[in-house]
Amino acid sequence: MRPSVPLLLCLAALAWAGCASDCPEAPGLAPGRCAAVRALLLPEALPPSRGSRVADSQQAALLGFGIFYDARFSANQEVRCATCHLPERRFHDGRVTSQGLGAGRRNSPSLLNAAWMRWQTWDGHADSLWSQPLFAFEHPLEMDYTRLEVARAVLRHYRPSYEALFGLLPPLDDTARFPLRGGPGHPAWEGMAPADREAVDRVVANVGKALEAYMRKLAARRSALDRHLLGEEGALTPQQQRGLVVYATAGCIDCHGGPLLTDEAFRPLGLSPAPGQEADLGRAEGLARLLDSPFNAFGPFHDGAPPEDADLYAARPEHAGAFRTPSLRNVALTAPYGHDGRFATLEGAVEGHLRGADLPPGSGVAGLPAEDREALLAFLGALNGEYPKPPWNNWPDR
Ligand code: HEC
Ligand code: HEC
Repeated sequence: MRPSVPLLLCLAALAWAGCASDCPEAPGLAPGRCAAVRALLLPEALPPSRGSRVADSQQAALLGFGIFYDARFSANQEVRCATCHLPERRFHDGRVTSQGLGAGRRNSPSLLNAAWMRWQTWDGHADSLWSQPLFAFEHPLEMDYTRLEVARAVLRHYRPSYEALFGLLPPLDDTARFPLRGGPGHPAWEGMAPADREAVDRVVANVGKALEAYMRKLAARRSALDRHLLGEEGALTPQQQRGLVVYATAGCIDCHGGPLLTDEAFRPLGLSPAPGQEADLGRAEGLARLLDSPFNAFGPFHDGAPPEDADLYAARPEHAGAFRTPSLRNVALTAPYGHDGRFATLEGAVEGHLRGADLPPGSGVAGLPAEDREALLAFLGALNGEYPKPPWNNWPDR
């Protein structure tokens, strides 16, 4: 008999009490695995920001709230963060791959709980929540707005609230010193005085920090799973409880473990590129972009001490084609799945990505009885957190 049905074994042996006392959260689970189940509990408090001292400022969150929904921060004045991270769609877009000024090649992750993540995006090209938006502004297929334009949009539309938080803006009206458009690689930008370039970089870093303060309001908090782990009777249905045991025994928990149901490691699952797409180098490319960015945790705009896990910034051969294990919180609500959105359904995602995974023998879904598979899917439906509170969870009043 497979180890995925230890609950039944326990019941059959009429040893319920003994099993239950080993791991009341997941009766029947081998005691050695119980700690991993308990570690799924989402703590009450958000983790500290990585590198921003205004992350919990209400004023900064209000500034970020405005900018998140403001299409004036894009080249065609029509794309906003909320174009691909819609409040009415759990802050993702429901598309296979997202569409800004052009067609992107990746699936937009939900922003619910992004504040918890060590790395942002599928390839971890940002190592803080505040630096990720800056990539979106400048990406030619997303908002295509250079950093000079972002800084000038702040001057035009948000000057008082920006200056109250971060001090005076540089003299951006002086177009001889501050050209209208430009960023790294543009001759106009490269021709600027280094101190002026740094002043502009500081403005966009601060815009990112305001956006981070807003996105921290989007934490989706505890789900039925957490209530179950805290001992609430009936928080999970019996089928979902069985699914939790399957989750732990089928190996899911080894990669999708911890409070966010991810270990945030980058792994090549060997998914071949979707038809018509070029191979995506994943982490190998993401790490290069991260190390090249002045907004990383070792740069001048990171508030506080640099991170202690500097070894995670070293390039490794296995990074080619590797993607961050995604968080499974709210997963039932954020189809389609996978870094390129190739899986339309949850079931497809679970079965599909495991075919390429390097799993310990005896784990994975391939040999699971139908009942266990159904229980596992039911369990994945118990991970939806409480939705963020108003006014943050919706479009601002205009
Ligand atoms: C055109 C669509 C689009 C727009 C506009 C856009 N994003 Fe995204 N966002 C994405 C995609 C796609 C990803 C995943 C990128 C990747 O993996 O390379 C992403 C990733 C993220 C992440 C990482 C989340 C995680 O869990 O890893 C954050 C945070 C984020 N975006 C915030 C923003 C903010 C803030 C803005 C506005 C400044 C913005 N995005 C604009 C499509 C978009
Ligand atoms: C070896 C590590 C590993 C194991 C084991 C594993 N996963 Fe994953 N999982 C990943 C990675 C990495 C991805 C992202 C794949 C991609 O798109 O490149 C992923 C993606 C997913 C997704 C899609 C989520 C989304 O938001 O797109 C789901 C659902 C999922 N896994 C569920 C499971 C379940 C259930 C199990 C156990 C049966 C499991 N996984 C086992 C690493 C793993």
